[in-house]
Amino acid sequence: MPMLIKRNPGWRLPESQTTPEAVYLDRRRLLQAMGFGAGLLATTGLATTAVMRPHPALAADAPDPTADLYPAKQNPRYTLDRALTPEKDVTTYNNFYEFGSDKDIWEAAQALQIRPWTVKFEGMVEQEREVDIDTLIRAMPLEERLYRHRCVEAWSMAVPWTGFPLKALIDYAKPTGSAKYVRMETFQNDTAPGFAQTFYPWPYVEGLTMAEATNELAFMVTGLYGKPVAKQDGAPLRLVTPWKYGFKSIKSIIRISFTDERPVSFWEQLQSSEYGFWANVNPQVPHPRWSQAMERVLGTGDRVPTLLYNGYGEYVADLYKGLESERLYT
Ligand code: MTE
Repeated sequence: MPMLIKRNPGWRLPESQTTPEAVYLDRRRLLQAMGFGAGLLATTGLATTAVMRPHPALAADAPDPTADLYPAKQNPRYTLDRALTPEKDVTTYNNFYEFGSDKDIWEAAQALQIRPWTVKFEGMVEQEREVDIDTLIRAMPLEERLYRHRCVEAWSMAVPWTGFPLKALIDYAKPTGSAKYVRMETFQNDTAPGFAQTFYPWPYVEGLTMAEATNELAFMVTGLYGKPVAKQDGAPLRLVTPWKYGFKSIKSIIRISFTDERPVSFWEQLQSSEYGFWANVNPQVPHPRWSQAMERVLGTGDRVPTLLYNGYGEYVADLYKGLESERLYT
């Protein structure tokens, strides 16, 4: 359990209302469908717990080859209505299911090897290619942005991310005119124990329309608090879409594909009754099992009202005109 939870037990959603519970129920349903009873479920749960304790990386990492690029100049266009969340909270209270379904995966995530690392550009592009992460980062216009970050579990942070507009990456990738969506995929290898939990639809996948991906807010993150981004926060490359629930912000990306088919994301595939493609923040549309009206601001214990599009409507509301019949807010 993170310290924060010990200090502020009041603001945590009851276990029965959080995403992991959804997954637990899903697993039980799955096992029942396979004809297994409760006894086996208990055994499976225990076995899972044992598997979920990985060894941290044995050797210290080499210095980050891009460390000289930080801190990057802050872009003054994106301002906050609240204090920045303490770095300690942002780097010790995480969702990264590849390393476990609890919030305290930060130590386990140190086993992730982030060099060498390549990113593949595939699908509807002028030419498919694979690029070394350091070459890519040095080719991009790095800047710092202060964004709010709102998880579907009803907690939030205010974070100084460093990175570059996703649009810059798309210009670099050169998709063809037929591409309608960008699909992103996380690494999958034996450094992360979550892959042993085969009821999850690995690898983690997310997607955006081309209009969303080229919106000025869509940001590719390589840094955090003026340093290369921590492994538990999605090193060496993650997405941030601050007007959407945090689960769209896919971490540790290795593949970016352009396609004319709407990608089915990890959470949508796991539980489509609760998680959809658009996932825009809306306080008036509850999650099927809890309200989205308020959020707990990490590091303060405050509960504040959640804003439509997480307060970024002036940038993104136009993207959804004419789509009112769709599940825009789940
Ligand atoms: N990306 C991957 N690959 N795996 C994950 O489990 N969790 C998502 C998102 N990206 C997740 C992921 C969820 S639910 C949230 S809220 C954010 O990452 C959390 O980001 P943070 O830990 O940096 O706050």
